[in-house]
Amino acid sequence: MSDAPFLSNSTSETIRAAAAALKAGHLVAFPTETVYGLGADARNPSAVKKIYEVKGRPSDHPLIVHISSIKQLEKWAIDVPEYAISLAATFWPGPMTLILKRANIAKDFITGGQNTVGLRVPRNPIALGLIQEFERIADSAIAAPSANRFGQVSPTSTAHVKEELGRFLSERDFVLDGGDSVIGIESTIVDCTNVIPRILRPGFLTKEDIQLVLGTEEVNFADTTDIKFSGSFAKHYAPKCKIILNSEAVPGAGFLALSEIGTPSGMVRVGAPQNVEEYARLLYSSLRFADSINLDSLVVVEPPGTGIALAIRERLAKASNTDFVP
Ligand code: TXA
Ligand code: MG
Repeated sequence: MSDAPFLSNSTSETIRAAAAALKAGHLVAFPTETVYGLGADARNPSAVKKIYEVKGRPSDHPLIVHISSIKQLEKWAIDVPEYAISLAATFWPGPMTLILKRANIAKDFITGGQNTVGLRVPRNPIALGLIQEFERIADSAIAAPSANRFGQVSPTSTAHVKEELGRFLSERDFVLDGGDSVIGIESTIVDCTNVIPRILRPGFLTKEDIQLVLGTEEVNFADTTDIKFSGSFAKHYAPKCKIILNSEAVPGAGFLALSEIGTPSGMVRVGAPQNVEEYARLLYSSLRFADSINLDSLVVVEPPGTGIALAIRERLAKASNTDFVP
């Protein structure tokens, strides 16, 4: 297959063309504030099938349905608890995905056969513009996983999308450019199908943020062994180089740590973020950089603390194939 058009300047015209491509059953990779997504018409089974083919992802792994506003919630979900409405009203548009009981419109080919559906309203204006236009012309929504091959590091720029998926996309598909992702790690996923919310995947919006909005301490982290989502596979978000967490200096290896920590002699610095927000933003591009200079291994000093630091440690645990304890 030849390369999809790369649209470096996502104007309203290119967004309209991309929405039309979605309607015609093609794929559109698009920026969000978290990572880039690979979108398809959430009501079109053959379009959604292409996502799984391009990603090389098993078909029983559910996709997040991207909608334009809280008004679309009732279309895709039923029995939405009060607390989920509070979370949506507070954090949408933004980096939060809510898992809810699915409405009839959310078919098995989106939900991986589960009775739940993941919904998110992204904040990135190109993403929102695309979803709004697509909803207008197609009365549907955009199913989109992160735009990487299964198990690989999520893309945070169009260059990464091209690197991951370029050769699998056709000339009828689109890649919309929105520059570097401003958050850099995937959305916080909150399971809202029980009385108490459970965080299935930590992210930029933290347990503390959720507790504050709901006015309750009762927010749990899921026990990752009892849920089925692809991020819960042992090795995920993984570069080619071996990631070693918090180790002694390894001469010749790469080194990623907060800027306040100096580079041990003989090591190759791949990133020096000044704070945890920057750490999240640069994490995936630092892992890709380590691969691009052919490092065999990368020593990563994890950021300490709760909140975003915890989300970063969760990704690093997956990338290094170690256990994560929230
Ligand atoms: O920030 C994000 O969430 C990005 C952008 C593009 O929106 N998307 C993303 O999608 O990270 P993906 O497919 O790479 O990761 C979504 C995770 C997967 O682990 C999937 O299994 C889980 O969400 N998920 C989706 N629907 C679910 C459901 N109904 N129940 C449980 N997990 C679900
Ligand atoms: Mg992903």
